[in-house]
Order: sequence, then C-alpha cells, then structure tokens
Amino acid sequence: MAEKYRLEDIRQEYLLKELTEEQADKDALGQFNKWLEEALISEIAEPTAMTLATATKNGTPSARIVLLKHADANGFQFYTNYDSRKGNELEQNPKAALLFFWPDLQRQVRIEGVVKKLNPSVSDHYFNSRPVGSRLGAIASPQSKIISGRKELEERLVQVKEEHTDKDIERPAYWGGYLLIPDYFEFWQGRENRLHDRITYILDGTGWVMNRLAP
Ligand SMILES: Cc1cc2nc3c(=O)[nH]c(=O)nc-3n(C[C@H](O)[C@H](O)[C@H](O)COP(=O)(O)O)c2cc1C
Repeated sequence: MAEKYRLEDIRQEYLLKELTEEQADKDALGQFNKWLEEALISEIAEPTAMTLATATKNGTPSARIVLLKHADANGFQFYTNYDSRKGNELEQNPKAALLFFWPDLQRQVRIEGVVKKLNPSVSDHYFNSRPVGSRLGAIASPQSKIISGRKELEERLVQVKEEHTDKDIERPAYWGGYLLIPDYFEFWQGRENRLHDRITYILDGTGWVMNRLAP
C-alpha cells in the first residue's frame, strides 16, 4: 500500500456532539428515533443501513449490511431471503445484533435481541411495494448459494421475467421480513480525548433501565 496511507496514523477527532443522561430519552426506542431522524435530516449516505450480526448454533458469527425498513415498539424490520446464510443462521439461533454507524454524526448504535419472521401479510405488503426489478431480482437470486457465474443469474432473471409476463409478481415463500425484538441498546457518541459517551438501555420487567459505560 502507498506510503501515504499509513493506517496507524489514521484517526479522527470527535468534537461534534455529546450524549448526557439528561439529553437521552427515557425510552430506548424514543432515543433511537431521535438519532435516526437526525441522521435522515443530515442527509448522510445510507442512514438506514445497519450491520446485522448472526451466529450459528455453536456460536460462529457472521455479519452483513441490511436495510432497516421499519422500527416501532414491536421491533426492527428488515427483509431478505429466508434461505440465505443469515436466514439459516437465524433459524438455528434467533439471537442477533444490529449496528448503525453514522460517521458524519460520530455516532454508533448497537441493538441486540431476538429475531422472528414477520407475519406473511406484512411481508407481502412490503414486497408488493418494491419496484418490479427488485421483485423479479429477489425471485431470481438464490441468495448466498454458489452460482456458476454472472450469466447464470442473468439467465435466471430472463426466465423469471418470462414466467411473469401476464402473471402477478407474487412474493416467493423464501423471501420476506424479519423482526428483531430488542432487549438491549447502546448509543455511542464520539467525544474529545476518546472519552466517548456510551449510554445503554436494558429491558427489565417494567421498562428500560439506563446506564453509562466507560468508553
Ligand atoms: C447498503 C447495503 C444494503 C443492503 N441491504 C440488504 C437488504 O436489505 N437485504 C438483504 O438481504 N441484503 C442486503 N444487502 C446485501 C447483504 O449485505 C448481503 O450481501 C446479503 O444479504 C447476503 O448475506 P448472507 O449471505 O450473509 O445471508 C445490502 C448490502 C449493502 C451494502
């Protein structure tokens, strides 16, 4: 790598904002919505992109980005192929973590919980709202499977298009939504001298309990 890219010299100052206990919403979802709205207003790239970490039954982890499609008191929704690697891992082990990194705001949000499949009618509703190309692509792609080459994928798409020339493009059973039901949140705000703010929320019997962690 070129000498000018000395990784050990790459560092950022975090001076933009703070997160105090007084500023933090008493409700974890309220706090998330506040930060998500600020990310949306800031027009940063991909504000709804989140890393989804899953693991096999024996704890081998894997992570990838998916898009948040809805968040409310019930949980965090995302859509994917149920037969994908993540889908298989969630089948074996429903515990998962989400991570948002909003670098322009010097913020990170960590969310942990249990994942379940969304009701088919909710998945249908979202699938039907997607552009035609995305719907056909979701049907055509055997996500996470080894394929012979790009050509195979393009041929599959042609075939799926042909099959749907005068037929509704319905959601295939292998594609749909998941809901992560959170029991833990951490809101990280970068601060001066690496003394970052870390406010956590843990669900106990009656509601969210807030704590501060050392950075
Ligand atoms: C910005 C971005 C958004 C993405 N959104 C999704 C998504 O919403 N759903 C999805 O299945 N894959 C999405 N992907 C692709 C996944 O990261 C991943 O490649 C794919 O889901 C297969 O993962 P798996 O083999 O671990 O199951 C996205 C990738 C990026 C970079």
